[in-house]
Amino acid sequence: MTDKELLIKKARQAGKQAYAPYSRFRVGAALLTKSGRIFTGSNVENASYGLTVCAERVAIFKAVSAGEKRFKAMGVVISSRKKTRPCGACLQVMNEFSDNLILYLSSKNKTETKKLSDLLPNPFTL
Ligand code: THU
Repeated sequence: MTDKELLIKKARQAGKQAYAPYSRFRVGAALLTKSGRIFTGSNVENASYGLTVCAERVAIFKAVSAGEKRFKAMGVVISSRKKTRPCGACLQVMNEFSDNLILYLSSKNKTETKKLSDLLPNPFTL
């Protein structure tokens, strides 16, 4: 199985754990570290809507809090036919750890491969 196939499979499984009673928009993410580990995440919503955390950031924060900071690729799966794009906040968080992350973005009918730098060419930096 290729990295792409594995990450999409794991992201799809992770999306099943989404807690999305408000939007009903389920997202799953799977992050591959340079050391070969995979961390998954799903979106977790809150009655106070702004406290919601996206699937991508859940996966990244799980990895970083487990001591991993170097990432190779991430799969993101949504359960609709819409085009998948990580939100700007997640792109900025991805950029914190790797500016050349590969993203496999998958919806019900299509998967696209993008580089982080294509989606966020001018990140905020200090
Ligand atoms: N969401 C993600 O999990 N990832 C994104 O990149 C964009 C949006 C979630 C947040 C919220 O639970 C739902 O999708 C609708 O915005």
